[in-house]
Amino acid sequence: MKTKIIVTGGCGYIGSHTVIELIENHFDVVIIDDLSNSTEKTLQRIQKITGVLPTFVNLDLKDENATHTIFETHKDALGVIHFAAHKAVGESVQKPLRYYKNNLYSLLNTLEAQSEHGITNFIFSSSATVYGTPDVLPITEKNETQRPFSPYGNTKKIAEEILDDYSKSNKEFSAISLRYFNPIGAHESGEIGELPNGIPNNLMPYITQTAAGIREKLLVFGNDYPTKDGTPIRDYIHVVDLAKAHVFALNRLLHKEQEKSLEFFNLGTGVGYSVLDVINSFEEVTNSKLNYEITGRREGDVAQLYAATDLAKEKLGWTAKKELNEMIISSWTWEQKYRNETN
Ligand code: UD1
Repeated sequence: MKTKIIVTGGCGYIGSHTVIELIENHFDVVIIDDLSNSTEKTLQRIQKITGVLPTFVNLDLKDENATHTIFETHKDALGVIHFAAHKAVGESVQKPLRYYKNNLYSLLNTLEAQSEHGITNFIFSSSATVYGTPDVLPITEKNETQRPFSPYGNTKKIAEEILDDYSKSNKEFSAISLRYFNPIGAHESGEIGELPNGIPNNLMPYITQTAAGIREKLLVFGNDYPTKDGTPIRDYIHVVDLAKAHVFALNRLLHKEQEKSLEFFNLGTGVGYSVLDVINSFEEVTNSKLNYEITGRREGDVAQLYAATDLAKEKLGWTAKKELNEMIISSWTWEQKYRNETN
């Protein structure tokens, strides 16, 4: 019998890549997604890659009663991986209540419903944004968390605090919070990838959309940071590497290898690249010129963020394998394939 896992937000960018890794590792996956920032077509694409069509439930996790009913149906699941959340930083500044309501209600309803039905393992999709502006680099899990700049980021920090309180109150409950650095790239098949709603906020989709002619030019937000070329440094990680880390974390929970009922792991490569590094690599691997212009800083950006990866290596047995070039090539392949199919 396969082990059943519930994946909320499983049609989204990171969720869909994780579903593929779960299926390839012989888990039985139930996706819960409200399709608010994703498409049901992703299910067929997952089937094309893996040969398996995951069970799909179209549900908004803010609906408490419906969430309980679905968890009753799937109470034989052994764990939940919770991706479902709104994630646009800028929009969260404009509509903070929408973000707090969506991201926190859905978390609370999921935790209540799973606990009521005896599902005790939980993986949370967190972000390096919980470190705010770090004083020490590379960032280890021991770095103090700070209040993130945006309401979106703050929902991640509050969610971790909720998990902390809850894991202390319920001895049966085990959770891992995975703090992602900057996920980019797409599945090598070109079948799934990031599908930003409207104008992208993040660097990589903005680059590929500019190269594809959908955006006129990329604005580089500031070149006066205290870094080698003045542009901010981030730890970009291939989404497939990131997805694989969830399987390692899940196995740690299922094999009861945890040392604490709530554990935190950074998911990054440990290598930092500047915005200009990414642009230059893109130009090199695609053999093209990207239309970009240096402009002023974006509010809330920090100069440098990159992960210490030792803990994930030691405790999860996981390290990121893919290089920046592979991240860029797969992002670009996905952009072109997707545009060709939808035009
Ligand atoms: C952002 C969020 C972070 C979230 C992550 C999700 C902030 C402060 N942080 O990270 O909370 O978890 O996305 O992926 O918003 N850049 C440009 N031009 C652009 C877009 C980006 O120059 O059009 C630069 C940014 O200034 C930054 C770098 O590219 O230096 C990466 O930006 P982005 O992809 O938005 O990620 P983060 O801001 O690091």
